[in-house]
Amino acid sequence: MTTPISINFVEADIDTIATLTGKLAVLVSPDGKIDTLARRVNRLSKGAIARFAESEAFAKLDNGAGVALAYPAGMACEGVMVVKLPKRPSVVEARKAGATMAVYKGTGVLSVLAAGSPKAADISYGLALRAYAFIAHKTAETDEIQGATMMVNNPEKVAAEAGPMAALAEGVFFTRDLVNEPSNILTTNDFAARLAAMQELGLEVEILEEDELAKLGMRTLLAVGQGSTSPSKVVVMRWNGGGDEAPFALVGKGVVFDTGGISIKPSAGMEDMTMDMGGAGVVSGVMRALALRGAKANVVGVVGLVENMPDGDAMRPGDVVRSMKGDTIEINNTDAEGRLVLADILWYTQERFTPVGMIDLATLTGAIIIGLGHDKAGVFSNNDALCNDFLKAAETEDEGAWRMPFSPAYDKLLKSRTADMKNSCGRPAGASTAAQFLQRFVKEDMPWIHLDIAGVALLSDDSELAPKGATGWGVRALDRLVRDKFEG
Ligand code: BES
Ligand code: MN
Ligand code: ZN
Repeated sequence: MTTPISINFVEADIDTIATLTGKLAVLVSPDGKIDTLARRVNRLSKGAIARFAESEAFAKLDNGAGVALAYPAGMACEGVMVVKLPKRPSVVEARKAGATMAVYKGTGVLSVLAAGSPKAADISYGLALRAYAFIAHKTAETDEIQGATMMVNNPEKVAAEAGPMAALAEGVFFTRDLVNEPSNILTTNDFAARLAAMQELGLEVEILEEDELAKLGMRTLLAVGQGSTSPSKVVVMRWNGGGDEAPFALVGKGVVFDTGGISIKPSAGMEDMTMDMGGAGVVSGVMRALALRGAKANVVGVVGLVENMPDGDAMRPGDVVRSMKGDTIEINNTDAEGRLVLADILWYTQERFTPVGMIDLATLTGAIIIGLGHDKAGVFSNNDALCNDFLKAAETEDEGAWRMPFSPAYDKLLKSRTADMKNSCGRPAGASTAAQFLQRFVKEDMPWIHLDIAGVALLSDDSELAPKGATGWGVRALDRLVRDKFEG
């Protein structure tokens, strides 16, 4: 997997600054005040930092943004990135500053002069997250990405603070790799093998194969995968870091490729459907992060891994299948496959684990992209307390999320002529009708959230903390929720 760059924290050493090679980053507060280390850079470079700090260009910069000065006089380095950051920045500003440095850094060496910043660990977190690059299949990019060194006050303390953040970064990278990986590589078998490998981290991992799924009655999940040569699987990951209390459950849609099936999608843009396992990817990344940081909580992750292909064996529009719960479903559109996968694994998770609460994640509908675009995921919940806790966690982590409604009106749209319900009901309120469908597989008193991440899992442009491609949206918010709710 893509591992985060190594970041070393060292005591500030003002005398080495002139001889540092590679690139440098310094912090200047919005009032133009230059701290001790930056002042040394300023003196060496004959006042370049101060001139910039007094400029209109500096005044116009957002907090966390920066400008690079190339090949400064009097120094061995290639350049200095001057980053605007308040003396007491918010966590989000500090991470943004780190991300700015990561973009400037590229693959080379970077020294960050951050002594005096109370948010040095958060700067390192932003730096690590933004320095991600998916180069597994770029044959020319074999050079190793260099690490960074940060001069800070009290390096041991900063390193201790940055430890759990590094675990999170690794969880986020695990998710991003899964989501970026093409579907000829990330088959259901390959996905399950990557999850099984996490047993080394202390996670219990169990892989349910098709015969067991058939015995359990997961016909709707199996229907989705029956046209593919890759076998359908359900993988259960358990992290038991708490006491003997019931776990919290995370459930993910893992469609490794979604052609639409017999209700086939148009070819333009279909390549993006390699990311249709994004929900399962986030669940997997959270489980990895929980294990790496040794979370004191019990969490179970359940993912349904299938591939939706058109084939002689594929499910057909009009087919009626029986879910594990017992309700029958008319599959009037084979492209509404995510809810068929989730219906069975949501039910299975409740029956087997009786969790204290449950969150599912899925790249479920194009409609949520029409509704909310690419910076907010759709949040559907039957429980205000859990929902508000999640929204707060997402806000803290600066991951966009917006609550959407259920309604009895949507239930009417799910009526089928031949079965208990149909799986698709057209364009109006497409994200909500999908959520309403899922709710039928959630027990009345089960606190539950459905997150439709179709718009946020993969972006065609760079974002603040990720290059274009997979974002890992949700890993940080869900970890934060577990931390605040169960480890408080
Ligand atoms: N995987 C898609 C949803 C999707 C669309 C994810 C765009 C990411 C980007 C899902 O399986 C799907 O095809 N949904 C249909 C549902 C419809 C047939 C009711 C959709 O949104 O069009
Ligand atoms: Mn689909
Ligand atoms: Zn899909």
